[in-house]
Amino acid sequence: MAKPFLEVLSGERRDPPPIWLMRQAGRYLPEYRQSRKRAGGFLDLCYTPEFAVEVTLQPIERYGFDAAILFSDILVVPDGLGQDVSFVEGTGPVLTPVRDADQAAVLSMAGLDEVLAPVYEAVRRLSVQLGDQTALIGFAGAPWTVACYMVEGRTTRDFHEVKSFSYGDPEGFGKLMDLLVEATVSHLSAQVAAGVDALQIFESHAGVLPAAEFETWVIDPIRRVVEGVRAQWPKIPIIGFPRGAGPMYPVFAKKTGVTAVSLDTSVPLAWAMDTLPSGMPVQGNIDPVYLLTGGDGMVRSVDRIVDACRDRPHIFNLGHGVDKHTDTETVAQLVSHLRKNV
Ligand code: CP3
Repeated sequence: MAKPFLEVLSGERRDPPPIWLMRQAGRYLPEYRQSRKRAGGFLDLCYTPEFAVEVTLQPIERYGFDAAILFSDILVVPDGLGQDVSFVEGTGPVLTPVRDADQAAVLSMAGLDEVLAPVYEAVRRLSVQLGDQTALIGFAGAPWTVACYMVEGRTTRDFHEVKSFSYGDPEGFGKLMDLLVEATVSHLSAQVAAGVDALQIFESHAGVLPAAEFETWVIDPIRRVVEGVRAQWPKIPIIGFPRGAGPMYPVFAKKTGVTAVSLDTSVPLAWAMDTLPSGMPVQGNIDPVYLLTGGDGMVRSVDRIVDACRDRPHIFNLGHGVDKHTDTETVAQLVSHLRKNV
């Protein structure tokens, strides 16, 4: 029998729906924290296949999720393009910012494949180690979201630097985005060549742009990424996650060419069912905070979501990533309730 996660992406319904969680490998798992300590830095974890494989498999061994997501990060792409990227304890990612066209001009594709080779090696190992029921998901950040980190240099609330660059010099910013489209196509295609079954494109900062700029910097680059990957791998399922896109979800779904969309926490499901292209699979969308509170509230939310998605191919997931304070027992309850083993 085919993998349930892939059957749903091909347009079939499964009851109960297959499940995996964004950020399912991470700091809420004690075994992750141990591996992280042994590896040293976060990027060492990402670039050492032994560790990346080990950490990818941890949530699968614990919970039997229907899909494993490769353990890596969206910021390995700017690292591979030659930008200085580090992860600082307590701060998160720190990059030497690229604030204008001249600073962007020093970045190039020349070293990308070599820097990312250990990531593809991890995929090759995972694709033979995972059982015949568990799919392997590869991923990348969408060009706009990756550019946000590259230009701001760190996590931001106001996005002033990246907006200033893109509004003030659309041509120069467009060149940086062209490079990101090329790098993203290369990175995703190499993951497919190495053995992933499906791809997810994380557009975590889709929600910060006005509608016209959303078309230019979110929809168009993702459409080019999808086309570029499909030119080499016509059948690969691709999930788009335009977090915060709100009323732009349907146009995103129609114009980018993605196979499925991942719905963030705030998307009303009845509206999504009515407005998304007919038959398109959806993924989501329980609020990760329900995994902090657990209990009846969480169970009711799971039931509401499953019920609202009953007429579409549906993959159960969160509306964003697992919070690091999540209790491992609550995740077990979520999985067992969904699969009705309670
Ligand atoms: O389990 C999985 O989902 C796979 C691995 C994965 C990570 N990051 C590991 C990680 C994936 C798919 C990502 C995607 C990612 N990375 C996104 C898009 C999704 C989202 O959350 O919006 C973004 C924006 C990033 C950039 C990034 N990486 C940030 C902002 C941070 C710091 C935030 C934090 O929680 O500390 C990271 C670090 C990171 N990436 C961690 C993990 C497990 C925490 C690292 C650690 O200290 O151990």
